Amino acid sequence: MSGVPQSNPQDAAQKTFYLETFGCQMNVHDSEKVVGTLVQEGYRQVETVEQADLVLYNTCSIRDKAEQKVFNRLSDYKKYKKQGKTFGVLGCVAQQEGEKIFERAPHVSLVCGSASYRKLPEMLRQLEEAELRNISLEPSAIRSIDSHPSKTAKGGAPSFRETRDSGLAARESLVRITGLDDRETDACFETEFTARTNPHRGYITIIEGCDKFCAYCVVPYTRGKERSRTSASVLAEARQMADLGYTEIQLLGQNVNSYKDSEGNSSLRKTFAELLAAVGEVPGIRRVRFMTSHPRDFGRDIVEAIDAVPTLCDHVHLPVQSGSTRMLDAMQRLYTRDQYLERIAWMKAAKREISITTDVIVGFPGETEADFAETLDLLDEVGYDAVFAFKYSPRPNTPSLKLEDAIPDEEKSRRLDVLMARQREIQSVRYKKYIGTRCEVMVEGKNEARAQYISRTTHNKTLNFTAPPTANPKAGTYAPILVTGSFPNSLLGELVV
Ligand code: 5AD
Ligand code: SF4
Repeated sequence: MSGVPQSNPQDAAQKTFYLETFGCQMNVHDSEKVVGTLVQEGYRQVETVEQADLVLYNTCSIRDKAEQKVFNRLSDYKKYKKQGKTFGVLGCVAQQEGEKIFERAPHVSLVCGSASYRKLPEMLRQLEEAELRNISLEPSAIRSIDSHPSKTAKGGAPSFRETRDSGLAARESLVRITGLDDRETDACFETEFTARTNPHRGYITIIEGCDKFCAYCVVPYTRGKERSRTSASVLAEARQMADLGYTEIQLLGQNVNSYKDSEGNSSLRKTFAELLAAVGEVPGIRRVRFMTSHPRDFGRDIVEAIDAVPTLCDHVHLPVQSGSTRMLDAMQRLYTRDQYLERIAWMKAAKREISITTDVIVGFPGETEADFAETLDLLDEVGYDAVFAFKYSPRPNTPSLKLEDAIPDEEKSRRLDVLMARQREIQSVRYKKYIGTRCEVMVEGKNEARAQYISRTTHNKTLNFTAPPTANPKAGTYAPILVTGSFPNSLLGELVV
């Protein structure tokens, strides 16, 4: 934890909350900030729904499957409402579905999109007050409280409107609070109360939202427009983390390299590559990663920064989505296959070997066998160290929703299997090359059953290693390793003593 006030676990009267997170690293880190905010508001985090007064879900809607999980979980927990628990839905499904969540899950009281998180303390107080008041209300007098669209200053004080309404479908909860109107905000969710779950490696969000509007992607609609923090604020957080003993920082954003410093004084503004280098130069920081980059905004200066600053990890995640220019055009990705490969060539010309990973979507509307073959061919050409591949899933509000989702699910599954089999072969060959080499790892923990330590290389590969009993390397320390074996997704090694 960093900067989170201590709560007294003995205090049985203290309000308690349970938070479950679905989805990407942005959501994981948002949850760390939500936890910090709740603790600051006097809540105590508990490990089970049963123990909690307030149950929160931070949700993901990137693909239909992720969204369904949320509604399944909410219906599982309906029974707890009778015990007086309060339910809240946060994040992308909250933003996407809005008040419809109250219809599908009437036991929910709070629905809040990520662009409204900075108003959470106010919303929590409103929720508590409204629930107290509602004890004496007639069941038909249902209250709905909306965080008011903040048209005023950046991060200005939230204002709330309270209305009586006659209702949405069957009601089981008397209180409705929504934070859904902030997607046009210029403000980021900045808080000094972040409850980081790992004491050695931590995230810093540098940019929120996305303005790219790829045809299949729900993110611009759920997370709102792009807004960057100032480099001064990011660097201050990095220094504070270093002071607390963190040695690895991961800069986060839906599209990190579209970062535009919002520093008032233009002479102090930094480009993304300059910010990356500056974070890498913070005393005490040994590793810096960044995620995710968009190929259109990926400049050569990022590779030059990696060349110049040894703490910048030699790993870049550069989602390609498809190897076919025709498909990239249909996906509105704003680059061609050749332009993507040009960026790969910059990375391959770097001083250190940069490990490259990517995301691929198979079965986007109109993808032919020939398009798919181009994606397979691209995997061979680039030589990725990991590929995260997904079947196309039509999403609400997105431009591609208008296109017929004509490729049958079985065909999407077949393409996914073919692609992953090809990638496994590529990775087997690539990972084998490390046998006999030495590298430095960050120790993450120990697998007692296997008597192996779990660690990560600068390339972001998992490396499991053995060490003599006297060595006992601790989580968060760095260790020199001789690589002795390889699998398609991990390396094996021995501690060099
Ligand atoms: N269907 C399938 N995959 C998707 N992704 C984003 N939207 C969709 C969708 N509608 C994938 C992309 C992105 C990753 C985070 O999720 O590959 O890079
Ligand atoms: Fe979605 Fe495209 Fe933005 Fe990535 S860049 S979050 S895929 S719209």
